[in-house]
Amino acid sequence: MAATRGPRGALQLAPSILSADFGRLDEQLASVDEAADRVHIDVMDGHFVPNLTVGPPVVASLRPCSARFFECHLMLSDPMEFLEPFAEAGADACTVHVEVGGTVELIERARSLSLAVGLACNPETSLDAVEPFVEMVDLVLCMTVHPGFGGQSFIEDVLDKVARLRQLLDSRHLDVDVEVDGGIDLRTAPRAVAAGANVLVCGSAIFGADDPGAAAVAMRTAAGMPARAPRR
Ligand code: DX5
Ligand code: ZN
Repeated sequence: MAATRGPRGALQLAPSILSADFGRLDEQLASVDEAADRVHIDVMDGHFVPNLTVGPPVVASLRPCSARFFECHLMLSDPMEFLEPFAEAGADACTVHVEVGGTVELIERARSLSLAVGLACNPETSLDAVEPFVEMVDLVLCMTVHPGFGGQSFIEDVLDKVARLRQLLDSRHLDVDVEVDGGIDLRTAPRAVAAGANVLVCGSAIFGADDPGAAAVAMRTAAGMPARAPRR
């Protein structure tokens, strides 16, 4: 493993390479390295979502470029067969969507591969669908856009689910990270943190900026994080 997932509950920034220049991903990763607790890698299959991105070979190519925690967000209809290839490629965590079903088996398979495990839910998916699994995972990802593309507008209604999720976790004394993904910018980041999120995925607001490193630092400041991400 390249890195630990960090102290539980700590505020963390996870730049998403979806909005980076895929022709020079190594440089793009280096530009945000000091401000990135994690690297968020969006994996799309053209079926669960209407878009295609990258697979295990790209993760393997990026692995030597960064010592940061690699989290692969699997937007796949059938993630089971890909957990092992992502683990072998150097992923530290895989996040699967609750909507695809087979959640317990997916979590157990990921654990058997020594992966940290996230469970994602789409904006319209209720907390009830996630609740049975919260004691089994390291992180719950609340999509704050409809998955598939970067650069979409933040869906405000999800903040209520984030707050209820955080209450649920606290009531059970569970140290599970709450991640938001989609439309996170200088305005929405502090609102997501106030609602109870502690891991912020951020794509276009960082890699769409002229200076991604400076944009990542600005995002950290807006969210109440120290300017530099600690080494773990
Ligand atoms: C969307 C992806 C996101 C995406 C976010 O399906 O899961 O991780 O990169 O991009 P922004 O921050 O531009 O909304
Ligand atoms: Zn994502």
